[in-house]
Amino acid sequence: MIEFRNVWFKYDEEGDFILRNINLTIKRGEVISILGDNGSGKTTLIKHMNGLLKPTKGDVYVDGENTRDKPISELSRKVAIVFQYPEKMFFSPSVEEELKATLKNFGLEGEELNNRLEEILEEFRLVDLRDRTPFSLSGGEQRRLSIAIALSWDPDYVILDEPTTGLDGYSRRDLTKTIEKVLAKNKTVVIVTHDLEYLFEFAPRVILLSRGAIVFQGSFKELLENEDVIMRNGLESPKISMLMKVVRRDGGGCGMRYSELLSVIIERLGCSEDV
Ligand SMILES: Nc1ncnc2c1ncn2[C@@H]1O[C@H](COP(=O)(O)OP(=O)(O)OP(=O)(O)O)[C@@H](O)[C@H]1O
Ligand SMILES: [Mg+2]
Repeated sequence: MIEFRNVWFKYDEEGDFILRNINLTIKRGEVISILGDNGSGKTTLIKHMNGLLKPTKGDVYVDGENTRDKPISELSRKVAIVFQYPEKMFFSPSVEEELKATLKNFGLEGEELNNRLEEILEEFRLVDLRDRTPFSLSGGEQRRLSIAIALSWDPDYVILDEPTTGLDGYSRRDLTKTIEKVLAKNKTVVIVTHDLEYLFEFAPRVILLSRGAIVFQGSFKELLENEDVIMRNGLESPKISMLMKVVRRDGGGCGMRYSELLSVIIERLGCSEDV
């Protein structure tokens, strides 16, 4: 469990608080999404989860231990963060070396290291890229590599900062499968995103930040029902929920048969039946 208790944070002593009285509990095995407009404090919040940042006031606990009392190296073993700009974390001359360095760092060696390396290269479709320098990879490939690195040591908490940015359909599906696998092991996934459409995959619990404070907590369904909350916080309503709104306005809804739903949609789009 990761727990925030009355957490306030500012980067500069002179500056404003960037996080304001955050109280939040993230349980083992759950998927949770952190939403909010640009600059609302999402990345700052998740950096508190592995001790990269410490609260100015209040405390963060990871499995009952205060992040102030634990070195980042130890916390990172449990809590892996895949950052928004993955290229910033690469330092090796090749994809293979990058993964090897991480595995070595977490205590693997010899045959065990090589077996795990091959497994990861395969699982994340990196076999053909193994000799390439990480900096030469495309944005989507870099993101895949950074997720592979984060999962290579099997952490208990996986935190993904804007993971769908720049991903094509294949990579989005890969990402979904990866998250499902992590959840199947009763581990925790935190998804920071603006991409409400993607959240239909998991319908997670959501936390919405605005100027460093939590302004909404609830289920994904509850968020979708609060369109004003979505609009006021720089998010975009997913197309499917806009569609459902149109359908409901026409007297339809969840009880509708698929063919009826389809004809309402076709009519609304102004197309003919044989689209
Ligand atoms: N190292 C830093 N020093 C000073 N201020 C910072 C630092 N990092 C972030 N900030 C400020 O803190 C606020 C929150 O930034 P943060 O990166 O947490 O926002 P975010 O919600 O992740 O935004 P985005 O959606 O753009 O990624 C912003 O006003 C930002 O300018
Ligand atoms: Mg951010």
